[in-house]
Amino acid sequence: MNDHFSEIVLSVKNVTKKIGRKWIIHDVTFDVRKGEIFGFLGPNGAGKTTTIRMLVDLIKPTSGTIKVCGYDVNRQQEQALRHIGSIVENPEMYSFLTGWENLEHFARMQPGIDRQRIAEVVDIVRLERRIHDKVSTYSLGMRQRLGIAQALLGRPKLLILDEPTNGLDPKGIKEMRHFIQQLAEEGLAVFVSSHLLSEIQLLCDRVAIISGGRVLAVGEVDALISGSNDYVVWELKPAAQGKRILSGLEYCDIVEEPESVLDDNLLAGMSAEAIVTCISPEHTFRAVERLVASGVEVREVHRMNPTLEQLFLQMTEGESLE
Ligand SMILES: Nc1ncnc2c1ncn2[C@@H]1O[C@H](COP(=O)(O)OP(=O)(O)OP(=O)(O)O)[C@@H](O)[C@H]1O
Ligand SMILES: [Mg+2]
Repeated sequence: MNDHFSEIVLSVKNVTKKIGRKWIIHDVTFDVRKGEIFGFLGPNGAGKTTTIRMLVDLIKPTSGTIKVCGYDVNRQQEQALRHIGSIVENPEMYSFLTGWENLEHFARMQPGIDRQRIAEVVDIVRLERRIHDKVSTYSLGMRQRLGIAQALLGRPKLLILDEPTNGLDPKGIKEMRHFIQQLAEEGLAVFVSSHLLSEIQLLCDRVAIISGGRVLAVGEVDALISGSNDYVVWELKPAAQGKRILSGLEYCDIVEEPESVLDDNLLAGMSAEAIVTCISPEHTFRAVERLVASGVEVREVHRMNPTLEQLFLQMTEGESLE
């Protein structure tokens, strides 16, 4: 792991938000470090945008603290906000101006941003070739990148993006992912929200999973995955005898409805006789020994890590992500 990960850029502690009579956010706590891409994953209505609006001081938390580079977003707004670049919901751009003119417009609102800095951010988001065209002629992906260019103008330490890949096609998503990764490699802390598991899994170092305004888990994506139940698919002969033996082992659970835990494409590759179990790696060897000792032929043993989606289902006991 990157050694500059230790420096905390964003610290969120026990943040809650009540709007009207409704508690929207309950006791949310997490940190984002320098050089890391932190994912904020949750279904529609989970509280992602509400949390982000508090991070950038568009609304105030009801309680709790938010610090950016050590500055309290509520008490030291100016110093804190100086370190944040963000796109919340959709970036607002003037479509009758060129990309460059839009950036000049935003540059005038902050001190110390010259033509050279504008040229630098255009270069980072790779819009050089189209920057002097009117924004009305841009694709959605180009508009998103212009939004990021604007967010980067003030040389922030923290970039906050609310669902940056919304509406993009697979190529646009891939491009976006590449340059977010590049920005993080250069030391930026990036906070990205998404309701798409595959997106977060590909992009992020760590993730907070949010549902119903509560953070269910925070951790490295890989660690969250390896710490959860995993599934083993068995091809045994004779299958019925094998299944009987497996179901008699106290450390092995037979999954009677594999379609509820496995992806469709995994299921498609399985034979009709395949048996799916939930069993730890340590116990799998013992199970194999028992099967072999009973004369059952073990044709295939295949371990599958759950996807983030299965993880989410385990945590929320079935609430769907989409
Ligand atoms: N101003 C408001 N007044 C009342 N309720 C609100 C307000 N803003 C948000 N909410 C409610 O708070 C919850 C969280 O909304 P939020 O927009 O933060 O979710 P989200 O995770 O960003 O969802 P999405 O994926 O759809 O963008 C929702 O139930 C929403 O209806
Ligand atoms: Mg939202």
